[in-house]
Amino acid sequence: MAIQTVAVVGASGNVGKPVTQALIKAGFKVTAIARESSTSTQPEGANVKKADFSSVESLTKALEGQDAVVITVASAAVGEQNPIIDAAIKAGAKRIIPSEFGHNPAKIKHQTLNTLLGGKHKTLEYLIEQTKAHPATSWTGIATEPFFDWGLSAGLFGLDLKNKTIKVYDSGNQTVATSRLAFVADAVVSVLQRESETANQYISVAEFIVTQNQVKKIIEEELGAEFQVIPVKTSDLEEAGKAAIAQGNYGASFVPFLLAYNFGDSHGHGYKAEDADNEKLGLKAINSADVKQAVKDWLKTQTY
Ligand SMILES: NC(=O)c1ccc[n+]([C@@H]2O[C@H](COP(=O)([O-])OP(=O)(O)OC[C@H]3O[C@@H](n4cnc5c(N)ncnc54)[C@H](OP(=O)(O)O)[C@@H]3O)[C@@H](O)[C@H]2O)c1
Repeated sequence: MAIQTVAVVGASGNVGKPVTQALIKAGFKVTAIARESSTSTQPEGANVKKADFSSVESLTKALEGQDAVVITVASAAVGEQNPIIDAAIKAGAKRIIPSEFGHNPAKIKHQTLNTLLGGKHKTLEYLIEQTKAHPATSWTGIATEPFFDWGLSAGLFGLDLKNKTIKVYDSGNQTVATSRLAFVADAVVSVLQRESETANQYISVAEFIVTQNQVKKIIEEELGAEFQVIPVKTSDLEEAGKAAIAQGNYGASFVPFLLAYNFGDSHGHGYKAEDADNEKLGLKAINSADVKQAVKDWLKTQTY
């Protein structure tokens, strides 16, 4: 029987909320699983259950009757997904989607970044091992590349709308694949609707391929104002990342390395449209002409 019931673990978050909303809209019966200590607002329309995320017993009880478990826990908790995986298998879930939603780990050739992403990588290894041992449960990893709307708001693209400045990394011409949160949510829905085609594999999706300079041009046209460029060398970012690691501050080292990896001129990892599985999932093909409308939509959500 097709997947009907879905638990979203971390449903209150940036990814969890739109994923929960899209699943409900697509007709799935959704249960949000929150931490016992959580005070977060859970998405409307979902059943809500609380569990002790360190207890397989508590999680198994919360996950009873769920056909699929989508984990969208915070970056800080991605290394702590094993009890959720164990519980999902015990509860008889057919599919587990781990908290990934970034770069496809098989494609990251940057050693330090891979080390910093160790929590996700180790979880994926554990998930693969456990689903091999318990073949009634399968897994799907989903890479979505950096989030576009969330990333614009979070400063990932270097924009400061109030002061009309943009940090441009190296030349600003490195292409970056990116997805809006609604597109990420659609990808999760599509995976669960295509159970057999998406089992036990890593799926890559992306909505646009853009450069920072293209985003800058669109923003300037929309706002009728020129943005002052603050040039940033990604080699300096990497040095800052290394210095943070030397001080044992791994958290602070991640963003500089991530920015350098995504936007730097020299990494040669440029994402190509054919790298994406959009068609397999029935999602729209990468169309960079849509970026303008995406920027317009994002600007409407901003005060500046
Ligand atoms: N590609 C990108 O640009 C990008 C950007 C951001 C995030 N991501 C990835 O997307 C996934 C989800 O991230 P997110 O930003 O959606 O997460 P988030 O909003 O920071 O957190 C999601 C939820 O996780 C739960 N949680 C469980 N353990 C937690 C802990 N120890 N600390 C804090 N929250 C905890 C909380 O839910 P309750 O309170 O309901 O328990 C929280 O609301 C992660 O894998 C992250 O790395 C990717």
